[in-house]
Amino acid sequence: MNTSKQHWDQVFTTKSPQEVSWTQEYPTPSMDLIQGFNLPKSTAIIDIGGGDSLLVDTLLTKGYTNITVLDISKKALDRAQNRLGEKAKKVEWIVSDINDFKPTKKYDLWHDRAAFHFLTQKEDIVRYTKTVNGFVSKALVIGTFSKEGPQKCSGLPITQYSCGSLSENFEEQFNLLECRAEEHTTPFDTLQNFTFSQFLRKK
Ligand SMILES: C[S@@+](CC[C@H](N)C(=O)[O-])C[C@H]1O[C@@H](n2cnc3c(N)ncnc32)[C@H](O)[C@@H]1O
Repeated sequence: MNTSKQHWDQVFTTKSPQEVSWTQEYPTPSMDLIQGFNLPKSTAIIDIGGGDSLLVDTLLTKGYTNITVLDISKKALDRAQNRLGEKAKKVEWIVSDINDFKPTKKYDLWHDRAAFHFLTQKEDIVRYTKTVNGFVSKALVIGTFSKEGPQKCSGLPITQYSCGSLSENFEEQFNLLECRAEEHTTPFDTLQNFTFSQFLRKK
């Protein structure tokens, strides 16, 4: 039994968006960095650990037509699909642990806000990076807790990143274009410091 899956299914069964720290009314840092690439609306975008975040709604509203959302928790994706109603049919939904994900196609842009940081074992971080290297053709947008941020998320240990350590992790195939600190205000009015980075694939 996958304990991580159990954890997340329980979160998305028992807690409302207002009861979890990561909820945002609007995914401002992610959208700024995604739109900063000026990619066509048909660009293939995947949101890793998208959960029931509003990023997919926002991308659809902006006219993006080729969106995939992956999450370990089917409950999370069910929530997002129920919210979107008919519009959910325009999106590809993948229930998978990122550690087991074997993409069947390439993605132009890979987005991950607060999922990558749950990987704390070297082998898992290396596997994730290999998947990115093999299946992301253009761009990466990654948001994690920073070195000044919390040490746990949803009660689970995480890896904190600085601009330098995140850049180092992806430097084999990707150049860091921009990295910023972002203060996220949780629904309970506390602050969480994130590192948000934009990477472009090396030629
Ligand atoms: C802190 S939440 C962030 C959700 C969303 N990205 C956002 O910004 O609102 C972490 C998400 O990552 C998912 N997740 C955690 N571990 C995962 C894994 N190993 N593989 C895939 N998804 C995972 C969780 O189910 C949850 O939806």
